[in-house]
Amino acid sequence: MTAVQQRLETERLVLRSLARTDAIFVADLISDEDVRRYLGGPVSPEQHEATFARYSSGENGGMVWVVETKNLQTSVGLVFLSPHRDNGEAELSYQFRAQDWKRGYATEAAARVLSHALGDLECVRVIAETQTANLPSRRLLTRLGMTEISRHVRFGSEQSLYATGNPA
Ligand SMILES: CC(C)(COP(=O)(O)OP(=O)(O)OC[C@H]1O[C@@H](n2cnc3c(N)ncnc32)[C@H](O)[C@@H]1OP(=O)(O)O)[C@@H](O)C(=O)NCCC(=O)NCCS
Repeated sequence: MTAVQQRLETERLVLRSLARTDAIFVADLISDEDVRRYLGGPVSPEQHEATFARYSSGENGGMVWVVETKNLQTSVGLVFLSPHRDNGEAELSYQFRAQDWKRGYATEAAARVLSHALGDLECVRVIAETQTANLPSRRLLTRLGMTEISRHVRFGSEQSLYATGNPA
């Protein structure tokens, strides 16, 4: 197994580690009502610092990548690979700026992280949890080749659990 790669690349994107200078980008992202619709709503300004610190730790010991476009070098989103809150399995999650939706950036970046996890990091499988009502997210997971394996209620909303890779 190789170590987590701080920098990954795709055709159109660079994925790099989160830096202090990304604080404004992250604050804008987590304040956006559209981005946070299925994630418990916008994060209040008082919580920005704590959220940034949590993201910097990769959501409890995982990894977060800032996704930048190669052509404009603009930050468009975040992709996380973190231990799942229930059993510590590798969980993929993502948040992209609403103005950059529908360009395929999220699928392209998430696919790269997924292949890094299943390949270099030798994860047995990767899971993802998303609100069942979050259809764009579920379409993305299907495009990645992940399959819905169960549903449950968390935070008062029905969640769909997706998985890929070899069975555990
Ligand atoms: C979930 C989320 C990342 C999905 O974003 P998205 O823009 O739908 O995903 P992509 O960037 O991969 O774009 C794919 C869409 O763009 C279209 N598209 C347009 N141009 C494209 C291109 N050049 N290449 C690929 N797809 C393209 C695809 O057809 C697809 O549309 P569809 O879903 O209607 O079939 C986004 O909605 C988001 O950030 N939501 C807020 C955070 C969130 O809810 N996260 C989920 C919890 S983990």
